[in-house]
Amino acid sequence: MKRIQAIIRPNRLEVLKKALVDNGIGGMTVTEVRGFGRQKGKIEIFRGVEYKTDFIKKLKIEILCKEENLEKIIKVIMESVREGEPGDGKIFIFPNEEIIRISSGEKGKEAI
Ligand SMILES: Nc1ncnc2c1ncn2[C@@H]1O[C@H](COP(=O)(O)OP(=O)(O)OP(=O)(O)O)[C@@H](O)[C@H]1O
Ligand SMILES: [Mg+2]
Repeated sequence: MKRIQAIIRPNRLEVLKKALVDNGIGGMTVTEVRGFGRQKGKIEIFRGVEYKTDFIKKLKIEILCKEENLEKIIKVIMESVREGEPGDGKIFIFPNEEIIRISSGEKGKEAI
C-alpha cells in the first residue's frame, strides 16, 4: 500500500477529483495548506500573472492506494493539475503500513 500526497493549485481540485473518480479511486482527503518551493514563494506565475507572497495557498491531497494502482493515479494527477508553470505543485509518495476501515474492521488492501 502507498500513500500519495500531492500539493496542488486550489483551482485544479474539481478537475482532479473527477478524473480520480472516473479512474475508480477509493477515496481522498483534502487539506488547505500554505507553503513554498524553489521560488521561495516570492514570485509565482498563475495564468500569466505574477503573484508575490511568502506562503502560497495550496491544497494537499492524500490518497491511499494499492501498489499496482500507483502509477496510474500519478499519471491522472499529473495530467489533471499540470499547467506547465512554476507553482504547479509536487507529489510525494510514502509506504503505508496499515489501513483499518473502522466500520467493518477490514484491514490492508480490503480497507481501501
Ligand atoms: N521541498 C519541499 N518540501 C515540502 N513541501 C514542498 C517542497 N517543495 C514544494 N513544497 C510544497 O509544494 C508547494 C508547491 O511547490 P512548487 O510547485 O512551487 O514547487 P517548486 O519546487 O517551486 O517547483 P516549481 O519550480 O514547479 O514551482 C509549495 O507551496 C509547498 O507547499
Ligand atoms: Mg515553485
